[in-house]
Amino acid sequence: MPELRVDDPVPGADVFARMAPYVVIACDGERAIGYAFWQRYGANVHVVQLVVDPAARGCGAGRALLEEIRARALAAGCTRWFLYVMRDNLPALRLYGRTGFERALEAWALRIGWPQIDGLAGDGDAVAYTPDPSEEIAIAKRFSLVPELLAAIRARPHITFVALREAAALAGFAALDPTFPRVRPFRVIRTGLARALFEALRPHVDLARPLHVIVEEDRPLVDALLAAGAAVSHELYQLAAPLTVS
Ligand SMILES: CC(C)(COP(=O)(O)OP(=O)(O)OC[C@H]1O[C@@H](n2cnc3c(N)ncnc32)[C@H](O)[C@@H]1OP(=O)(O)O)[C@@H](O)C(=O)NCCC(=O)NCCS
Repeated sequence: MPELRVDDPVPGADVFARMAPYVVIACDGERAIGYAFWQRYGANVHVVQLVVDPAARGCGAGRALLEEIRARALAAGCTRWFLYVMRDNLPALRLYGRTGFERALEAWALRIGWPQIDGLAGDGDAVAYTPDPSEEIAIAKRFSLVPELLAAIRARPHITFVALREAAALAGFAALDPTFPRVRPFRVIRTGLARALFEALRPHVDLARPLHVIVEEDRPLVDALLAAGAAVSHELYQLAAPLTVS
């Protein structure tokens, strides 16, 4: 986690056991010098983690790990792969560029406390509710999400889904992991509805801890959260590419 520069708690052995079938390891002789972890969502592959031992960087291990994932994903019939990278991570950006990835969207990891959320202006009279799994296709379509990804997030322990409805129309959606606590995705059809979506999350979290919120392709929402006092943890790109033989 420190090598990836993320605040996530270091996963326990149970989490590593769940990851294991989708982990590839680069070796120099008997010595492990890097690993990558990927996940499959329908025809989409998410390269979630990629780390090479600092002492072994620049020797092709990162490239080899990506190529192994490519081969496995192609064999599984996948057609697209994507990942998130910090905008200042030049070695990773260079490696991904060489591998064929292109910028798909902008994302921000923000931290915001409940006192700041209390200062957010809200508008409209959206109603919050717990979406039924049968609605996930519609949610995915409305907010440009991969439906299989939503199903996978729902299947994880502790996850809470909340949605907003305005009149009869879907107006917001968030998936909360209260243990971190992190919200990803967090989507609203307009900035003024963010307050209502946070309010829907409020009963599910420890109000003393700041929320980590991942915002994608929504600069006005980022600006509103920053104006309310949120802090940027990371600026990210989502990179993506069709999966083809290299
Ligand atoms: C990003 C990372 C996985 C790259 O691993 P790596 O084994 O060094 O990568 P490779 O040796 O396969 O290098 C691939 C390309 O990147 C280049 N590269 C590697 N390290 C570099 C550096 N420090 N600066 C600039 N370019 C670099 C290589 O020259 C190579 O380019 P080439 O194709 O022109 O030869 C590694 O730097 C790392 O573990 N970083 C910390 C964790 C991290 O940031 N992970 C990615 C999160 S999105």
